[in-house]
Amino acid sequence: MSTRYRSAMRIADSHAVITGGSSGIGLATALELGRRGARVSLLARRSGPLDRAVDALRRAGIEAGHRAVDVTDRAAVADAIDAVAGARGPCDLLVTSAGRSRPGRFLALADADFEHLVAVNYFGTLWPVRVVAADLARRGTGSIVGVSSDAGIVGIYGYSAYGASKFAVRGLFEVLRAELGPLGVHVGLCCPPDVDTPMLAEEEHLKPPETQAIGAGIAPLSPERVARSIAEGIERERFWIMAERQSALLRVAAGPAWGALNRVQDRIARRAAAMAREAGNADSV
Ligand SMILES: NC(=O)c1ccc[n+]([C@@H]2O[C@H](COP(=O)([O-])OP(=O)(O)OC[C@H]3O[C@@H](n4cnc5c(N)ncnc54)[C@H](OP(=O)(O)O)[C@@H]3O)[C@@H](O)[C@H]2O)c1
Repeated sequence: MSTRYRSAMRIADSHAVITGGSSGIGLATALELGRRGARVSLLARRSGPLDRAVDALRRAGIEAGHRAVDVTDRAAVADAIDAVAGARGPCDLLVTSAGRSRPGRFLALADADFEHLVAVNYFGTLWPVRVVAADLARRGTGSIVGVSSDAGIVGIYGYSAYGASKFAVRGLFEVLRAELGPLGVHVGLCCPPDVDTPMLAEEEHLKPPETQAIGAGIAPLSPERVARSIAEGIERERFWIMAERQSALLRVAAGPAWGALNRVQDRIARRAAAMAREAGNADSV
């Protein structure tokens, strides 16, 4: 197997599948990618908001497909992606924006909150990636963008359940970057701060005062701004997709040697892959 080098990711004419595409960041991303010429398919749990999202896209001149699916259900996610691929072609871009939040002090949260957020935020991200990754790797193209959070970069007071699920997403995507990048698939991770969406509105009355104080004075970003950063991150094939400076600084402060460590890891992996190829025992994808 020879190492594949990818050509620059093209959004135009690609098929973008967006989980959580009925609302907030997912819907704004669907609009942004659609305006840049992608065919878009939205996946989310409830049909009503999905129908309204498809109408909003149509008013913007974008014809979108959609499918109601609970992203925690592996088999249903596979069926949904098969269905939208049947209508619009194989998935070229996957953005996993479906998610839930539940702020609260660790001692006040229920066990079920931890289970629910890992189910939706982690497994609900993992399953769509599992469905599309092998085909993208086989074709040596495409892009997979996960949506984590500032709370997936540093532990923030009040986000033990949410933050842990978003750290898990980040952990998964760091490995995907290392493994799928050499196969020609761009992997990116968007880590937004507060964004003005229905999720944030729902969170506000559950945040402990300490969490409110930490976020006070930081104006939430618009979902459109985050969506633009996702589109640019895809075009420029960035791993870290930061919509604004503060999150980028937070990321740097949280891991000063992140880039250097990964350069060493990538070099060792490339050398090992070349040696395995020479020995004739490389896995084929
Ligand atoms: N807003 C913020 O401040 C912020 C900050 C950092 C990161 N994020 C992350 O950004 C992502 C999008 O959040 P948002 O603010 O745009 O929230 P949002 O407006 O509430 O949208 C969430 C989307 O996820 C879908 N969803 C939730 N659970 C689902 C499930 N089990 N199966 C299928 N779809 C499901 C929702 O559809 P249904 O309503 O039909 O379930 C909706 O389309 C999330 O991963 C969130 O953690 C948000």
